[in-house]
Amino acid sequence: MDRIHVVGNIPLQGKCKIQGSKNASLPILAACLLTEGTTGLYRCPRIRDVQSMFSLLQSLGCSVFRTKDAVMVDSTGALFCGDRFCSVEVTGMRSSLCLLGAMIGRFGRAVLDYPGGCVIGARPIDLHLKMLGEMGVVFSEEEGVLHACAKHLRGARLVLPFPSVGATENVILAAVAAEGDTTLIGAAREPEVTALCHFLSDCGAKIEGIGTDCLHVEGGHRLFGTDYAIPADRIVAGTYFFACIGAGGQIFLEDAPWQEMENVLAVGKAFGAKICTNHRGLYVQGPDRPKAIGTLFTDVYPGFPTDLQSMVLVTAAVAEGETRIREQIFENRFQVSEELQRMGADIRLLDEKTVLVRGTDRLTGTPVRARELRGGAALVGAGVLARGETVVGGCEFIERGYERICADYRELGVRITGA
Ligand code: UD1
Repeated sequence: MDRIHVVGNIPLQGKCKIQGSKNASLPILAACLLTEGTTGLYRCPRIRDVQSMFSLLQSLGCSVFRTKDAVMVDSTGALFCGDRFCSVEVTGMRSSLCLLGAMIGRFGRAVLDYPGGCVIGARPIDLHLKMLGEMGVVFSEEEGVLHACAKHLRGARLVLPFPSVGATENVILAAVAAEGDTTLIGAAREPEVTALCHFLSDCGAKIEGIGTDCLHVEGGHRLFGTDYAIPADRIVAGTYFFACIGAGGQIFLEDAPWQEMENVLAVGKAFGAKICTNHRGLYVQGPDRPKAIGTLFTDVYPGFPTDLQSMVLVTAAVAEGETRIREQIFENRFQVSEELQRMGADIRLLDEKTVLVRGTDRLTGTPVRARELRGGAALVGAGVLARGETVVGGCEFIERGYERICADYRELGVRITGA
């Protein structure tokens, strides 16, 4: 898909089913490297990043294939290949970094190109290296290639100075395979970390403190393949949620994991949305026109997720009044503002981390270009709100995380096509 064409400015109506979570799928796929036998993963989304992870696992000798309902992974035949992975796969996706902990756990070593991802800041990996280093992993870097080697991978008492999601996942993956116990203090509490812990527990791992910022992992238990349903994607659900609040109308987001979206729903209510939840999902009714929400800070879970910040920017752009948004997790996450300004949004950068959005009563469709995943999805969302036709280029970024953004919006009544 090269471009998405959307003709906006009609209230949303209908329902769509929320896909499985990208950020939960990736570390769980990596974890399969540590298990014996076959794992069946249900609701594993058909997105580029997942496809890249399949290729990485296959290049390590794992069998990975899709059946009608599930992804089957068997890592019995996995072998360490001294050669580093194909650069395109790794530099295009930061989550290949998850394989670091899993490869060290399985092979005692790893070789990766320095990992890439979205263009949203420097994204250093110092915390990953420090934590794994304390577990006995020795790192070296040659010409952008990271070498890791653990002659003796051992449990440790670790303190994370910042609750990095990826570093927490890497520690967990290494810890289940290490000799002895690991205590991780200051762990990330994101639902995707919890999902990884539940998956590993189903495989036979012993992890205490799941869902808290202090995890205790007993290392060295044998892990066996299992069947596991990937949780629904809270960011995809949040994307359509804010689109409906900006465009008006009423929609039902089937399977939306609203229990993990407390802060997102609170922001929706502040915009003036009516919300109902039940065991089947999330119902939202947008206001005639959203009202500005004052100041919003992104934060680590359970705070407001940085991955939905761009979508709030879009809704705030059509709200009545002024909204300030302060990005506390990643730098450079306001790049999408420039494209939104071309659609008529009044967004001013107050400092590196803060923008001021003055709501206008209309955005106007125009050709725009996605430069990263979440900003790209927000441009499509802006197209849904805007008058006239919006053409979004750079769709390869959006396909990294959204399984069927056009089909989903069509089910919600939007005139949208991707080609
Ligand atoms: C994960 C998610 C991403 C989400 C982010 C924050 C995946 C595949 N991606 O990314 O969608 O936006 O969590 O919820 O799950 N940091 C360091 N040193 C490190 C590691 C991180 O300084 O070693 C900094 C980062 O630059 C960033 C912040 O910590 O400013 C958060 O990063 P982290 O929580 O690690 O996010 P990711 O795991 O990369």
